[in-house]
Amino acid sequence: MAMVIRDVREMRQTAERLRASGKRIAVVPTMGFLHEGHLSLIRIARQKADAVITTLFVNPAQFGPNEDFARYPRAFERDLALADSAGTDYLFAPDASQMYPTGYSTYVQVEGITEVLEGKSRPGHFRGVATVVAKLFNLTKPHIAVFGQKDAQQVAVIRRMVRDLNFDVELIIAPIVRESDGLAMSSRNTYLTASQRKEAVCLHQALKLAEQRVKQGVRECESIRQEMKKLITTTSSGQVDYISIADNNSLQELERLHPRQSVLVSLAVRFGTTRLIDNVVLLV
Ligand code: PAJ
Repeated sequence: MAMVIRDVREMRQTAERLRASGKRIAVVPTMGFLHEGHLSLIRIARQKADAVITTLFVNPAQFGPNEDFARYPRAFERDLALADSAGTDYLFAPDASQMYPTGYSTYVQVEGITEVLEGKSRPGHFRGVATVVAKLFNLTKPHIAVFGQKDAQQVAVIRRMVRDLNFDVELIIAPIVRESDGLAMSSRNTYLTASQRKEAVCLHQALKLAEQRVKQGVRECESIRQEMKKLITTTSSGQVDYISIADNNSLQELERLHPRQSVLVSLAVRFGTTRLIDNVVLLV
């Protein structure tokens, strides 16, 4: 069974020992309640490294005051077994008091790209994400870190942080793992009622519609956004938070698509109090 580490000092010492013995370390940061999406990341890490550290920490710093920190689903023993079966060597699961002891006051703020999309709807979210990921990198000393494309803006933010703060970590981005009807896997899917769960497939359908329109040669972004919105509002009870067609590097909204542009189509939709996100990257 994977070894559980709860103490930050023990994590640093273990990582140091692994490095000293010439092992290549891969880290997979998670907030637990693991599903196939997380496990796909761990399997990739297993292939690329000698030592796989999965981190499990529901990071209070990335939740807003009215968000789901307290009710975020937790299942430690199940997560340990799943992480182990996917190839984890060490499960680092610190307490919040270890990560943010009394007097903690240092945060990582990535500017610009954190102000749109998720960052606009969830102020302070990416400050919490960048901070905890920087801390996890310092504690686990990875050569490689694996993240999921499911959280496209998170990938952009971490990429920028790694570049700007000179972290010596290679990022690997894994494709989105979906349920058989197309819904992107997420720990938050467990909040959905049976009827919301059925309706939630509309996020993926809206993305497929956008993909189809771009393939058909549509270049005006607003007409595509409108069609996506219409699909969601006519087929579900979901409340659209945003529908975005943006440049995949700057994350700035686009009016028109240009040849060879990498475009991030992303959206957030609320079902009751549950907020779901999904995206697709299109090459025009
Ligand atoms: P969490 O939501 O638990 O996700 C952990 C990792 O799994 C992220 O890199 C996420 O993009 C990836 N992931 C989630 N669902 C996926 C899916 N359906 N397919 C592929 N990958 C998927 O993201 C976080 O935690 C936190 O913000 C974290 C980076 C751990 C910092 O606290």
